[in-house]
Amino acid sequence: MSVDITGVGLGLRAAFIERVERGEADGKIAFLEVAPENYMHRGGKAPRRLAAIAERFPIISHGLMMSLGSPDPLDDAYFAELRPFLDRVGTPWHSDHLCWSGIDGVLLHDLLPVPFTTASATRIADRVRQAQDRIGRPMAVENVSWYLQLGAPQKDEPDFVVEVLERADCQLMLDVNNIFVNASNHGFDPYDWLRKVPLERVVQLHIAGHDRWEDDLIVDTHGNEVREEVYDMLAWVIERTGPKPVVLERDSDIPPLPTLLEEVARIDGVYQAAVARWQSRQEVARHGS
Ligand SMILES: [Fe+2]
Repeated sequence: MSVDITGVGLGLRAAFIERVERGEADGKIAFLEVAPENYMHRGGKAPRRLAAIAERFPIISHGLMMSLGSPDPLDDAYFAELRPFLDRVGTPWHSDHLCWSGIDGVLLHDLLPVPFTTASATRIADRVRQAQDRIGRPMAVENVSWYLQLGAPQKDEPDFVVEVLERADCQLMLDVNNIFVNASNHGFDPYDWLRKVPLERVVQLHIAGHDRWEDDLIVDTHGNEVREEVYDMLAWVIERTGPKPVVLERDSDIPPLPTLLEEVARIDGVYQAAVARWQSRQEVARHGS
């Protein structure tokens, strides 16, 4: 599979896998993103369906359970299943979150924040390097939404992310909705965040909707349509990075596939306009205005 995947894709979910298999998304998405954990250790229909779908769409994998920030050692059994899965679907890289999801072998099924310290960045970067060796392809780390700080931070989140990226020499799976959620909840400018990270390390983007639970708290539910402000952030990034794969994530209150595909088309409109602006910037840089 070519590593040159760009455009707008969709996170594959059980709620609509059958319709995708029937061809209802053909020509309407550039690729699919899949979570290996939904197919590993499983027989039956799901892996067979995915194999059929992988014949028609490029697949990018996005993991949920590597638990890069956990004090536990990397899970050998997990990697033993993960590597063959990634090889089977032919993903050019694999991403997982800058978080931890368990301790002492207990899985918490949540993406919990890590301390924004050099010790934590160093340890996570070391684990990212180990993970890359084990899976035989590049890793990208994703910025998460977080609601409280674990311990006293030494640095702000973008500085922490930069430290992990540089120490691991890995790629960034940039979730623009997560930055917006954190900026709203913790009171910072999301564009200050974006200006601090090396956009040349962005290999892929996530976009999603969220819900407001209280006046001053929004929660990253992936259960709503993408907000205008988040579209603007996506456009800002693509205008600077050029074409990248962008994934629409939807995990709760999932509408019928045609509705999701309409949202993909809307994202694609914003994306294509941003790519055109990126091309103009390239022209100006080459020839002067
Ligand atoms: Fe995400």
